[in-house]
Amino acid sequence: MSNSSSSSSQAEGKQEESSALLPGEACHSEWCEVRGSIIHGRGVFAKRDIPAQTPIIEYVGERIDKDESDRRGWAQMDKHNETGEAAVYIFTLNDDFDIDGNVPENAARLINHGCDVNCEAYIEEDEIWIYAIRDIEEGEELLFNYGFDLENWEDHPCVCGADCCPGYIAGMDYWEELEKKKKARDNAAKATTEPVVLG
Ligand SMILES: C[S@@+](CC[C@H](N)C(=O)[O-])C[C@H]1O[C@@H](n2cnc3c(N)ncnc32)[C@H](O)[C@@H]1O
Ligand SMILES: [Zn+2]
Repeated sequence: MSNSSSSSSQAEGKQEESSALLPGEACHSEWCEVRGSIIHGRGVFAKRDIPAQTPIIEYVGERIDKDESDRRGWAQMDKHNETGEAAVYIFTLNDDFDIDGNVPENAARLINHGCDVNCEAYIEEDEIWIYAIRDIEEGEELLFNYGFDLENWEDHPCVCGADCCPGYIAGMDYWEELEKKKKARDNAAKATTEPVVLG
């Protein structure tokens, strides 16, 4: 999961119905907790009212250089192509390093994508924080936009349920182009299914 990398169908979502943290996992924030989500698998929810601009939870993990980041990204892609599973949790940190958040102590990796969000990620002094972009009520699911580009867009349907949802997980900057791609796909499908009138 990353603003800069792709993600594919989620291995963790295939766990037994689990609404909370598993052994060895932790939620290192007083503001939120892990629960089952109607969007997908587990999600992260406000444990109390959270004022706008609050830094809610740090996105922690292993700091890796760009070569290692590429290697892991491609390995995950291969795994996805073979099994249909695997997810990438790599976040861009700076020009030299990324954070691989695929570690049990990183509850922030369980935050789902939304198209009408209440959170964003920001980087400050080599730390990645998920912060509230508006007041969030106790019990609300925390959501931020994963910012995916349109490579393999059809692999990432979005079920966030927001009125503005374009149906696929993509950064807002890509939504206009996404609509064009959806139209082109639908037109191509129509052209191949319409009966040909002979004579
Ligand atoms: C980093 S995980 C988020 C945590 C995940 N819910 C879990 O239980 O492990 C990202 C994956 O969750 C799923 N996901 C997150 N947001 C989604 C959304 N809005 N619509 C559909 N699937 C979503 C996708 O499978 C995505 O690859
Ligand atoms: Zn959506």
